[in-house]
Amino acid sequence: MEILEAGQGTYQLQDYQKERETFDWKQVEKAFSWSETGKVNIAYETIDRHVNEGRGDKKALLYSDKNREESYTFSELKEKTDQAAHMYRNLGISKGDRVFIFMPRSPELYVALLGAVKVGAVVGPLFEAFMQDAVKARLEDSEASMIVTTPDLVSRIPHEDLPHLKTILISGDSDKTGSSEKFVSMDEKLAEADTDDSAIEWVDLEDGFILHYTSGSTGKPKGVYHVHKAMLQHYQTGKWVLDLREDDVYWCTADPGWVTGTSYGIFGPWLNGVTNVVRGGRFSPDDWYGTIDKYNVTVWYSAPTAFRMLMAAPQETLKNHDLSSLRHILSVGEPLNPEVVRWGWDVFNLRIHDTWWMTETGAMLICNYPSEPIKPGSMGKPIPGVDASIVDDHGNELPPGEMGNLAIKTGWPAQMRKIWNNEPKFNEYFAIEGWYVSGDTAYRDEDGYFWFQGRNDDVIMTAGERVGPFEIESKLVEHEAVAEAGVIGKPDEIRGHIIKAFIALREGYEESDELKEQIQKFIKSELAAHAVPREIEFKDKLPKTRSGKIMRRVLKAWELDEPTGDLSTMDDN
Ligand code: WTA
Repeated sequence: MEILEAGQGTYQLQDYQKERETFDWKQVEKAFSWSETGKVNIAYETIDRHVNEGRGDKKALLYSDKNREESYTFSELKEKTDQAAHMYRNLGISKGDRVFIFMPRSPELYVALLGAVKVGAVVGPLFEAFMQDAVKARLEDSEASMIVTTPDLVSRIPHEDLPHLKTILISGDSDKTGSSEKFVSMDEKLAEADTDDSAIEWVDLEDGFILHYTSGSTGKPKGVYHVHKAMLQHYQTGKWVLDLREDDVYWCTADPGWVTGTSYGIFGPWLNGVTNVVRGGRFSPDDWYGTIDKYNVTVWYSAPTAFRMLMAAPQETLKNHDLSSLRHILSVGEPLNPEVVRWGWDVFNLRIHDTWWMTETGAMLICNYPSEPIKPGSMGKPIPGVDASIVDDHGNELPPGEMGNLAIKTGWPAQMRKIWNNEPKFNEYFAIEGWYVSGDTAYRDEDGYFWFQGRNDDVIMTAGERVGPFEIESKLVEHEAVAEAGVIGKPDEIRGHIIKAFIALREGYEESDELKEQIQKFIKSELAAHAVPREIEFKDKLPKTRSGKIMRRVLKAWELDEPTGDLSTMDDN
């Protein structure tokens, strides 16, 4: 078998086997002041600690988009986030309140988010592409009292229908402020706020700081709740896996609306005190290569879909940029094809390191390391301090080579602590005593490497983003022409999967390309652009169980021309 040999340098994780045998999470606590004071706040550790330890003048954030180019030191970020913290306090926010952040990537987003964490609020990041219904579902479920947004996005917040939502804080000039007492100008409130660090709320390690909404195969999006203690793992995987060092310029391409964009777009890098690049705007190969070139990025964390799009770009795009600053590349979110790893090796002369984890796991769990060989196509091996296994449905561990449920021994620091308002859902993950069951199917080989095989539910990973078929189906049937809808992920060369919808029309509607487009526009304007079915197929009726549930497994089999399996529960009327 093809293997990419271990790197020959000196790394933050030099001896994987030894760390696995001796490492204890307690050791990591010593890196933080709270191990002595007992007072903790992840935002303080992320920003202020560096100032207090003499690294205040170091560049923390290098931000750019089409119109702006700015940089901020740790001292500057400390002052700005302290000021934001005072502002939240002045507006009545206190520990445990849910504050949503609904903004495009910008320095203001990072300040708004960390400032809220400083006062002990639980932040809910929302991806900027979300439209009204998606925004509403999340604000409703979490009973958020505040949302921070921009003039461009504010109209998507249906505030009349959200009794708990007291304040809509708008960053930038807006004609909305003043029109209702709910709308408040953030710039004005910031200007009135103090900038000392007395607004910090010292909390317990087990207090929450973030609520990431994510999709399952059934039901509404679920609020995955993480606590301050997660910092131990953000910090330590930043060392072991991202291999971060003092002089690194690090770039994580994920948006903070998704967990990768917070755990590794904010906390992992800044807990380790490295310079963090944020690039606003949309993806284009030229822009991305240009970003690496411009900032001399050394460590780059991205996703398979992006790598595949770069692979497909004209060779000149690559030749126009100097990418020689790169020394370490990583990937997450979907299976990383061996072909992409080979491309990375050819083009950058570097190995692409796959990492596996989930919104629910809060931080990386199964990874490839610079000091270990890579088997292209494998997600790698569990980090020290974490045990992973393959178990059957009763919790029996399976031998190497056998496929089963990818499961993690419970108790790692960044593990979710609850699903907001939904204990039964939370408990489903831990139905097998002692294990967290991921919902992914995998096997382990004789050398302890894990190999991803698929999801065992209907969750769709499209272009690295996680979408639930249920939310899309529910929206589709709200369209006047749609009687029934079933949504699946269809394998796609570039995006991993695309969203495909099977639709049965209401009486009186005829299938046509115009109708397809109209339905796509409907989803785009009410739910989100990334939730639009790229393919729609009309059917006279959809396969359903006798209890009326759409059988997505049959739709998938139709799509892939595979046998449909056991149809005994199908309603044949
Ligand atoms: C998938 C993203 C294959 C998996 C951090 C998981 C992966 C889901 C990998 C979580 C990988 C993540 N190889 N599949 N290296 N990493 N996945 O919550 O199906 O957006 O369950 O978290 O992404 O997606 P989520």
